Amino acid sequence: MKKVITYGSFDLFHEGHYNLLKRAKELGDYLIVGITTEQYDESRGKLNIIDSLIDRIDHVRDTGFADEIVIEDHAGQKVEDIQKYNVDIFTIGSDWLGAFDYLKEYCEVVYLERTRNVSSTMLRMKDRSIIKLGVIGCGRIARRFMTEANFVSGIAVVSVYNPHIKSAQAYAQKFELGHYTDDLEAFWENVDAVYIASPHETHYEYAKAALLHHKHVLCEKPMVFRKAEAEELFQIAKDKGLVLLEAIKTAYAPGFNQLISVARSGVIGQIQDVEACFTRLTKEGLRELEDREYGGSFTEFGSYTLLPVIKLLGTEYKEVRFDSILADNGIDLYTKASFRYESGFAMSKTGLGVKSEGQLIVAGTNGYILAPSPWWLTRSFEVRYEDASKIDQHAVKFLGYGLRYELSDFVYMINGNGKRGYKLTRSESIAMAEIMEQFLLQRKE
Ligand code: CTP
Repeated sequence: MKKVITYGSFDLFHEGHYNLLKRAKELGDYLIVGITTEQYDESRGKLNIIDSLIDRIDHVRDTGFADEIVIEDHAGQKVEDIQKYNVDIFTIGSDWLGAFDYLKEYCEVVYLERTRNVSSTMLRMKDRSIIKLGVIGCGRIARRFMTEANFVSGIAVVSVYNPHIKSAQAYAQKFELGHYTDDLEAFWENVDAVYIASPHETHYEYAKAALLHHKHVLCEKPMVFRKAEAEELFQIAKDKGLVLLEAIKTAYAPGFNQLISVARSGVIGQIQDVEACFTRLTKEGLRELEDREYGGSFTEFGSYTLLPVIKLLGTEYKEVRFDSILADNGIDLYTKASFRYESGFAMSKTGLGVKSEGQLIVAGTNGYILAPSPWWLTRSFEVRYEDASKIDQHAVKFLGYGLRYELSDFVYMINGNGKRGYKLTRSESIAMAEIMEQFLLQRKE
């Protein structure tokens, strides 16, 4: 019996996929089809898969060509599968010509002529114009954003706004943007969506103005410092059918999402405690240390440390208590926020003037999860148990600065492919704004 194997994402199943599977089957007697997981696709930079894995499997199965379907979830799996299943022929479309010659060591490699003029990418773009995105603010994060935006399809950064025209001009020149302005009205006219990366305290006004001008909004963290403001912005977005997303990059990162899923899967039992720490010693003179109103460690890093707390224990905490070490100007150099939940605790530690281990620990009744520094990029984590010899290791790619993940989800949601909103929900964003608000009130006192 001649065994054939082929692989693909098979997203938005189309004629090209059908033709390929048909001819693959004709190459032998038994066809195995490997279908990629969303996470594996993400790890190799393919961020735009629309159909769920289950749907993609169904579509391949419905053709009747596949005798067996396997899931492809890591690099190097092809070599393993070919040996494991005693495969005679590996086949794939001609768009991959040469790319899999290394498999000739294990079996015959056949590149099949690709069907012309159809691809998942083309179907994704069909009926959808490219989203024109404008950037507000030109600081460090906005510069990183530009590098990342190149990795996300369906979007083009076309304009930058800054009240200081010279900054806008320099940014536009550096990134070859066709338009820059210090006039908000002119800015709104040019864009469909905005990325807000201006100073924290300006987020609310810009986000509100953008929404009122019918623009989708991706807003840097902390989005706002007041619960009522967060609620108002989400309400406007809802009323107008717009996407409003808080850009906490960790929330959209593949590794962090895997960690949350593993924690919720029950392997560590009931979650009883979440401890997250983020510190960065900061040079004097920087905004974080000088801005008496909104500077300080908790407003700076709290969005990261609160995220696993809220995601794992929820928004309904019983009590929160803040302990801070303050600088002479009143900003916090170090803050511990302790939460008490119905069943469990949490601790967020943030520091600008105190250095500690930036790790995340999720403790449960059966074991715990440890994500080492920098856990907010979540490249790896371990599940550990009472039996110290038993450790489950997880490694997940985190590409570049990681802003591509939030941007990719933003584009998805604008295009109505929803279902990704679970990564950071409205109520989670609102809860974080409320915690910030309580903290700032207490710090003032
Ligand atoms: N394929 C094909 N003809 C097409 C499109 C895809 O023969 N017009 C083949 C690919 O070469 C591959 C398989 O179908 O062997 C699965 O490809 P996949 O990457 O899932 O599909 P694409 O449409 O190429 O997806 P994308 O545009 O996202 O890269």
